[in-house]
Amino acid sequence: MRFPRHQVVPFAGAPRSLFVALFGVLGCIGVQPGPSAGQLAASRASVPTPDIEELLGKMTLEEKIGQMTQIDWKLAKNTDDVRKLYVGSVLNGASSLPEPNAPQNWVKLVTSIQTRALSTRLGIPIIWGTDAVHGNALVRGATIFPHNIGMGCTRNPELAEKVGRAAALEMLATGIPWTFAPCIAVPRDERWGRTYEGFGETPELSEMMAAAMVKGLQGEPGQPEGVLACAKHFLGDGGTAGGKDQGDTICSEQELRAIHLPGYAAAVKAGVGSIMVSFSRWNGAPMHANKHLITDVLKGELHFEGFVVSDWEAIDTLPGSNDSKIEAAINAGVDMAMVPLTYQWFVSSLRHLVKKGRVPMARIDDAVRRILKQKARFKLWEHPFPDPAYASQLGSPEHRALAREAVRQSAVLLKNQDAVLPLPKNGHILLVGSKADDMGIQCGGWTTGWAGRRGNVTPGTTILRAIEKAAVGGKVKFAPGVRGADAADAIVVVVGEEPYAEGTGDRKELGLSRDDVSLITAAKASGKKVVVVLVTGRPLPIEQVIAGVQAVLVVWLPGSEGDGVADVLFGDFKPTGKLSHSWPRSSSQIPINQGDASYAPLFPYGFGLGY
Ligand code: BGC
Repeated sequence: MRFPRHQVVPFAGAPRSLFVALFGVLGCIGVQPGPSAGQLAASRASVPTPDIEELLGKMTLEEKIGQMTQIDWKLAKNTDDVRKLYVGSVLNGASSLPEPNAPQNWVKLVTSIQTRALSTRLGIPIIWGTDAVHGNALVRGATIFPHNIGMGCTRNPELAEKVGRAAALEMLATGIPWTFAPCIAVPRDERWGRTYEGFGETPELSEMMAAAMVKGLQGEPGQPEGVLACAKHFLGDGGTAGGKDQGDTICSEQELRAIHLPGYAAAVKAGVGSIMVSFSRWNGAPMHANKHLITDVLKGELHFEGFVVSDWEAIDTLPGSNDSKIEAAINAGVDMAMVPLTYQWFVSSLRHLVKKGRVPMARIDDAVRRILKQKARFKLWEHPFPDPAYASQLGSPEHRALAREAVRQSAVLLKNQDAVLPLPKNGHILLVGSKADDMGIQCGGWTTGWAGRRGNVTPGTTILRAIEKAAVGGKVKFAPGVRGADAADAIVVVVGEEPYAEGTGDRKELGLSRDDVSLITAAKASGKKVVVVLVTGRPLPIEQVIAGVQAVLVVWLPGSEGDGVADVLFGDFKPTGKLSHSWPRSSSQIPINQGDASYAPLFPYGFGLGY
């Protein structure tokens, strides 16, 4: 469904000064009464996009540096700094959420800060960024799609494009025009805590899905409902030694290009408007200061015309003095600095560096031009405020149905002895495991918070509820442990990982928890048919644990629509998912990737049974 972002409205044609006088007095974020989002969206409908070169010509150095600065709304010392420092972008870090976390509070928040930006001399709108990495998932009530590792198993770029489009519409429902997604990392070592954020271990998957997701998020040129995408993290984030988050990727340039670059080439070709630099190093050298890769390869060779944004406070992790960190990053080709904690220092230091000639004015103009062009492309002058026409998109039945489809297609059937699956709907099932009825666990990280958490994080259908709904004419008993199995025809055991994000998910060893292993052992001991459902952000070595169980279905981090899992278990959908990672036999076999010289995984890359 398409929604017009251009509307015929009561305030159309009102001059900017009147607008600022009327609405520029909104005080603290999100709490004071003021014009409705509808009035605001309407009041600005007539401001045309300026000529970017002309605008650039009018800007002072301070205004240009402001455009290159991104702050976090909650961590900012004073949100009025948006106005005072001419800040060009505001983000909500994944922990900087409005309270209560309701869509209308997001709308108020974005509106309030945008109002400040528009009250500046040139009235350049900010571009608000968020981590909508599996749907607009930081917002409670949004549709939560499977994390990318599952999307990779679908091998279905058309589906990824639809998911991107739905995510964009749900973002527009909260007035946010920029997502730090897709993550197109190629995770080569599953001990990395961000393995689930990438589409899979091969450049082939990153390439195929990056382009599709970018197209879905940004829309075709001329379509009204796109948001700016951001491919991340450039370059080699998934290749670090030992799978260490923000670590060192040690390899030749040839290997770096062969494994980690194809996704970027595809994303650039698909028109991606922004790219985030990786926290990681390449052969010891920090990516944020790598002029060769950012400027020569990405902007030169690949002809990337969008802007490059730094990762969260990453410039501050560079070696050297404060000034030399900024000098190195900006001269390497970083256009916008994500500096939630150090923005005041960034602004004054960059001004000093330009005055001293250590950062050329031409570099500043290039950065600002790139940023303004994306703002123009996504029509932020015409539509700086949330448009209420999108409100009903958030968590809509259509998007939930799409997410259910994505869950079905991402599930991979690893084992199915004696064709125990699909289960008959009219049988008697004993369902065990605390992870069967936990929305937070099935959504994983980056869901209504940074690391994610257990429990009722957002509305949706848990795996338990989905199985109960689907088992028409049958009996489903849910128990924390394997007791009362006598009457059951089969035991379904739901096990897996607890939520985590970034480095909090780094592990030396992978595997199931002791409790999960005991549950499976008890189920096997009952003599009943045992079906294991794995909820996980990466392959876990489980060779011994699953010996003796009849079926294993890995559903990754499926998100809010557990119905897709039930669809596969009961055969309403015959599994088609193919592994996006090689499945190791043991932790000591990691890293293991398709094409390795000696390759003997438990299940190879691309494996997946059907019925
Ligand atoms: C992550 C990025 C994310 C950014 C903003 C960083 O810690 O590495 O992937 O986009 O935070 O939340």
